[in-house]
Amino acid sequence: MVVTGSVESLLECRQVKKHYGALKAVDGINLNIAAGETIGIGGPNGAGKTTFFDLISGLTAVSAGQVLFNGQAITGIAPHKLFHMGMARTFQVTSGFGSLTVLQNMLASVVNGSGNEEAGLLLSKAHREKSMSCLAEYGLADIADDLVSNIPVLDRKKLMVASAVVHHPQILLLDEPVGGLMPAEIDEFIELMINLRGKGTCIVFIEHVMRFLTTVADRALIMHQGKLIYDGTPPGMAADPLVKSVYLGSEADEMGGD
Ligand SMILES: Nc1ncnc2c1ncn2[C@@H]1O[C@H](COP(=O)(O)OP(=O)(O)OP(=O)(O)O)[C@@H](O)[C@H]1O
Ligand SMILES: [Mg+2]
Repeated sequence: MVVTGSVESLLECRQVKKHYGALKAVDGINLNIAAGETIGIGGPNGAGKTTFFDLISGLTAVSAGQVLFNGQAITGIAPHKLFHMGMARTFQVTSGFGSLTVLQNMLASVVNGSGNEEAGLLLSKAHREKSMSCLAEYGLADIADDLVSNIPVLDRKKLMVASAVVHHPQILLLDEPVGGLMPAEIDEFIELMINLRGKGTCIVFIEHVMRFLTTVADRALIMHQGKLIYDGTPPGMAADPLVKSVYLGSEADEMGGD
């Protein structure tokens, strides 16, 4: 059976579930994401946020339900194929090839993400120029020849995003982009995200840092025990009784601040 979705939705989730034995990590999520939206996902540890991203991005098979991208069912499509189709993601644990340089990491994305599987590892001048231009955009050009194992966490996180966006994905999934960063570094990341949002990229991110979520996102989702318990404006979260009781607890007042 061919499943088709709404043409208005860039990404659509229909009753998406992931169960590990008795544990319902993701428990029936219905969601429509339109092109150009910027969505921040919050929720307590273990709420199922990363698992949800893994289901969308093809890293983990769904137990039940459908994910549609541009109206096409993508359940079962490998992550690298989804990358070629316009879906990119980053990871909660900062990834990157530590024994390669920053430029070599970017080249890996530029070459392998081009969708041309024949390209292999043949590098051209154009690949190098595209890589350097993207590194420059993310303030990484000066450290292009540094080994990734030697660069600070902020630069690793920027490199992960730069590698994900170099092919201009339609949707970008970021798992805790600013987790572990200092306040000034978070500010820097906010600028990068606002810039990316301005280009029309649909960004969906998971984040515990509420200042980042409320500044960058125009729509907020809160997950708890595998379910979506809030879908609305970022400022509205602070007043939502369910969100307060299951997630914010005593931090509710802090959310209302800047
Ligand atoms: N491969 C797996 N096998 C069994 N249980 C798993 C597996 N992956 C995740 N889980 C469980 O599913 C639940 C949701 O985990 P997940 O990593 O999605 O949470 P999260 O919302 O991303 O949390 P955090 O904010 O801490 O990153 C947790 O209870 C976790 O232990
Ligand atoms: Mg997680």
